Amino acid sequence: MQLGEKYKVTIDKITNLGLGLSRIDNFVVFTQNVCPGDEVEIKIDKINKHYANGSVVEIIKPSPHRVKPFCPMQKICGACQIQYIDYEYQLELKQKIVQETMDKIGGLDIKIPSPEPSPQIKNYRHKIQYPISQTKNSGRILAGYYKPSSHEIVNIKYCPIQPEICDDIIEYIRENAPIYKISGYNEVKHTGDLRHVVIRHSSYNNTNLIVLVVNDTKISSKYLNFAQNLSEKFKEISGVCINFNNKKTNVILGNETQCLCGADYIIEKILDKKFIIGAETFFQVNPKSAENIFKYVKNYIAENFKNPTILDAYAGISAFGICVSDISKKVVSIEENMKSVELAKQSAQLNKINNIEFNSGDAGKFLSNEKRKFDVIILDPPRKGCTTESLDSALKLSSNTIIYVSCNPATLARDLKYLKDKGAKIKSIQPFDMFCHTYHIENAAIITL
Ligand SMILES: C[S@@+](CC[C@H](N)C(=O)[O-])C[C@H]1O[C@@H](n2cnc3c(N)ncnc32)[C@H](O)[C@@H]1O
Repeated sequence: MQLGEKYKVTIDKITNLGLGLSRIDNFVVFTQNVCPGDEVEIKIDKINKHYANGSVVEIIKPSPHRVKPFCPMQKICGACQIQYIDYEYQLELKQKIVQETMDKIGGLDIKIPSPEPSPQIKNYRHKIQYPISQTKNSGRILAGYYKPSSHEIVNIKYCPIQPEICDDIIEYIRENAPIYKISGYNEVKHTGDLRHVVIRHSSYNNTNLIVLVVNDTKISSKYLNFAQNLSEKFKEISGVCINFNNKKTNVILGNETQCLCGADYIIEKILDKKFIIGAETFFQVNPKSAENIFKYVKNYIAENFKNPTILDAYAGISAFGICVSDISKKVVSIEENMKSVELAKQSAQLNKINNIEFNSGDAGKFLSNEKRKFDVIILDPPRKGCTTESLDSALKLSSNTIIYVSCNPATLARDLKYLKDKGAKIKSIQPFDMFCHTYHIENAAIITL
């Protein structure tokens, strides 16, 4: 194989990172923007020790599963990597990705069912985070996602996976921020004001919390006046917050958020419970799909336990704990983000729930110091998965069942293998399509002891 040379290949499959895999003389080549079954001409861009990277020169014979992406920006925006594949086949590919990950990393002998589809495949996102910059010559504000593998902003005027109102709000910010002398951020020079706009959208009552992330340390009249103007312009805006982030970092939010006008939260409703979501608190990105997961977990617990005690670890605003509280004797939740814990308490009050104990801190430490036993332990860690400390403690504290919810099949497989090697039984794994048109997939695993 030669660098820069062109080859004709057929794409065998999609990997868990959304890359198409093909082989040239048995040497693996990864290519973006392809579908299994595509016959393509590719150019070799990089040769590594065990694999090469190629890019598509021409699609010779497309897979029958290729469709016209409904977003005109799909090819240049990095957000919906596989939108050119029909939705049914996206689900089939994700099932295969989870199956292969569980076989290879987990060494698990378990059959993965088809993912539960997302109830909405457009306008589904609850959280929008656009980086902001400004053009050098005309001074226009740019807002959108980055091009794949770059920090070049695609100025997105219309994004069909987010609620329509978000396009209008972003456009208004683009047009009007300069009038208030608010400039766009220059990442290279670390100058300018507005770094990101974050929108938290409620699918329950169509309200929106706007967060202006600024390269600044304090509120000034330009931010206050702009926030006031923005909230007067859109009846769908429940409040505008400012978040201060003057560090040279890729992390979006800084440590401090203040409310400029209106409310500093939105309310989402899932199953029959209301949740208070703030600027800095985690909430599932696709509330309608999340509802399917909460329902699945709740049904499993209701069918198998009477008045159980439940530990909700990596709880966020205790979304699982609040959903299962009415079929439980007691829920104990643990979460490290203090703001989430505070909003979890307020959400419990709003729903008149008084059988949840809220704890803040590191889940691993909390679990290893805990003495009480629980009928069910729910683990819903971030992408990096659980620590062995958390897993060992969950095995020790659970008298029967662990339910592990994960947005990363690779770390889920690793952790399930760990639990299995310690004697636990992996009873089932159900995928849920939380992130339509991307290669990401959520899973809920039921583990019994
Ligand atoms: C994937 S979210 C799940 C949140 C919640 N279960 C839900 O469904 O909304 C993971 C949560 O774990 C929290 N977290 C991350 N590391 C943690 C740790 N070491 N200890 C406790 N919580 C942690 C994050 O702040 C986040 O709220």
